[in-house]
Amino acid sequence: MTDAELALFHDSLTRCTSHPQFLERFYALFVASSAEVRHKFSRTDFQKQRRLLQASFYMVMLEADGKPEGAVHFERIAALHSQAHRDIPPRLYDLWLDCLVHAVRESDPQWTPETERLWRRMMANGIAIMKARYHAEAEPHKPQTSGIAAPREMP
Ligand code: HEM
Repeated sequence: MTDAELALFHDSLTRCTSHPQFLERFYALFVASSAEVRHKFSRTDFQKQRRLLQASFYMVMLEADGKPEGAVHFERIAALHSQAHRDIPPRLYDLWLDCLVHAVRESDPQWTPETERLWRRMMANGIAIMKARYHAEAEPHKPQTSGIAAPREMP
């Protein structure tokens, strides 16, 4: 992505998130789109979920700008969504993206077809990582090892 495209995405994201209803609308569309999606979110705290997704969009920008923090974030959430954890099948990502661009179209007053193409391109890499990791075995919250041996228990 070029700096100009990143700036356009950032501006659209800012316009969308200045509407408190943006991510509420996105999740309403997404859970209405399929019983399987509804089931996956049956025990979700949506206030927290919206906050985490909003933070994720900033990671999308870092990832698109080639910054390692963005890639690390996507590897972590890919493991969380994998078959071994939340078990999110790859086909649900296309639905996710369609619902997201629908909510963007409703929330960004400066929306044009180019805005939609930009959002789709911005999300494409992260989605590709998440789909590819569906069968991965990785632990999403594996604690960091310090390399220092734990003290031995006294006899
Ligand atoms: C690129 C697309 C997606 C992004 C960026 C994304 C982002 C996130 C983030 C940031 C979290 C919170 C992670 C944490 O706890 O630290 C999350 C949780 C979750 N996501 Fe996704 N997600 C995506 C696609 C999907 C899809 C397609 C589904 C399908 C149903 C889904 C279902 C879930 C569920 C069930 C949780 C856990 C909710 C809970 O804690 O109850 N996600 N997602």
